[in-house]
Amino acid sequence: MKGYDEFKSVAIGCDHAAFELKQAIKEYFTKKGFEVFDAVPVFMNPIPYVDTAGKVCRKVLENKGTLGILACGTGIGMSIAANRHKEISAAILYDDFTAEFSRRHTNANVIVFGARTMKNEDVERRIEIFLSNEFEGGKYAERNRLLDEPDI
Ligand code: RB5
Repeated sequence: MKGYDEFKSVAIGCDHAAFELKQAIKEYFTKKGFEVFDAVPVFMNPIPYVDTAGKVCRKVLENKGTLGILACGTGIGMSIAANRHKEISAAILYDDFTAEFSRRHTNANVIVFGARTMKNEDVERRIEIFLSNEFEGGKYAERNRLLDEPDI
């Protein structure tokens, strides 16, 4: 199933370093007709990234068909925070190849960007790549299933 068919809504969040990028991502999805939950509607300084990641991850886990999108300066803090949540697979889309395979093989349900390491146009193109691809399931689903084993 293409990302476009699986995800009808997005939950978006950022820290203080990525507020402008978050606004651009929000506009992009609003124009495309997605339902958008914005965890950080108003700028503050600082915006605690762990809290924001929690809000976005909870939305993703509670609402089937919701893709999580997080941004901070590098994408590192947000991906670490998001991946602490069980059943969240957060991937930094640091290039176009990663954008494709984080969907096809990893089946990420949260995608992460760095406002200080990526241009807005690269972020938009990688979102497009992610949504245009399908999770391949099969052996990849089997491998990913181990992530939910209690003893790993
Ligand atoms: C904020 O200054 C910065 O540390 C943060 O946005 C991010 O890069 C963490 O990964």
